[in-house]
Amino acid sequence: MKAAILEKYASEGRELVVKDVPVPEVGDNEVLVNIKAAGVNPLDNMIVRGEVKLIVPYKFPLVMGNEFAGVVEKAGGKVTEFKKGDRVYARMPLDKIGAFAEYASVKADALAKIPDNLSFEEAASVPLTALTAWQAYELMNVQKGGKLFISGGTGSVGAMAIPIAKSLGLNVITNGSGDNEERVRALGADQFIDYRKENYADIISGVDYILDTLGDKELENEFKILKDGGSLVSLRGLPNGEFAKRMRMPLYKRAAFMIAGKKYDKLAAKRGQRYHFIFVHEDGEGLKKISEIFSDKKVQTSVDEIFSLDDINKAMKKVASGRSKGKTIIKI
Ligand SMILES: NC(=O)c1ccc[n+]([C@@H]2O[C@H](COP(=O)([O-])OP(=O)(O)OC[C@H]3O[C@@H](n4cnc5c(N)ncnc54)[C@H](OP(=O)(O)O)[C@@H]3O)[C@@H](O)[C@H]2O)c1
Repeated sequence: MKAAILEKYASEGRELVVKDVPVPEVGDNEVLVNIKAAGVNPLDNMIVRGEVKLIVPYKFPLVMGNEFAGVVEKAGGKVTEFKKGDRVYARMPLDKIGAFAEYASVKADALAKIPDNLSFEEAASVPLTALTAWQAYELMNVQKGGKLFISGGTGSVGAMAIPIAKSLGLNVITNGSGDNEERVRALGADQFIDYRKENYADIISGVDYILDTLGDKELENEFKILKDGGSLVSLRGLPNGEFAKRMRMPLYKRAAFMIAGKKYDKLAAKRGQRYHFIFVHEDGEGLKKISEIFSDKKVQTSVDEIFSLDDINKAMKKVASGRSKGKTIIKI
């Protein structure tokens, strides 16, 4: 089968190599999926640069790609929930990625069935970012009627985080590039701030929850607009000790991350706020709930541009350049 391979980390970035590799074996609890479309994320470029190796160390050669939509080709001996021909999608398991390929073998509990109203390309834009939002909202224990600020909500995270937040009954404020205002409002944002014209920190205050996609450069400002006792989940700030514990990391990593994230833990503690970092993980159960939201509410997905597997490096460059209007997709 054809797959896009990373041969080693490179801090300045590296081109993936598209070549023929064997179709993966299927374990008893796994499902072999014929992949039809895969989503490209900033995470893929971070993996290439070795930026997440402390969280998930990979071995090489590595078939890249973190999320997909496809059709079940074969179910392992102990799998009862999925059968040949089912349309499925998933965020690939952290320890076994490989969505930029014609086939992937995926543990069944990472999968969910694709809602009928989504094409493969639309479905491939959902799992990673939708689960990111879902896991963040679970961690913050968001309550209906609460006020949520999503920084940089014009990107692919926002495309899922906004409609999911609306389905949970939250009041959503976001900022991002102004040319995306209309699209983001159509997703359900109640208030939009163009970050090139206005500073959100001058306009809003007292928010209950923050989903931060911008990290270090914005975290201090974000804590200012968060109410006393409010919760913030960062996707891009520094991991802290609580994150390492939640991920059941060994003690030496817990100690390292405790030191790394101390700055934000201290900042949060001043006003009884909570700082969390997450690294989105596979979660078939969460994805099933997301499928329900997509089926019931007819939520729109945001697909930006579609590339072929042979053009994977162009797609990776596009994602690296920012200027996102939703998800970049590889059609396989
Ligand atoms: N930890 C995790 O599990 C996890 C999961 C998913 C994503 N992430 C991270 O979350 C970040 C966002 O991901 P994404 O897929 O949404 O990225 P994306 O599609 O590239 O979108 C980023 C958006 O942020 C906007 N932006 C840039 N600077 C801004 C600023 N100063 N103020 C407001 N908006 C700004 C961009 O607008 P312009 O077009 O004007 O640049 C763009 O629309 C990435 O760093 C990614 O690695 C982490």
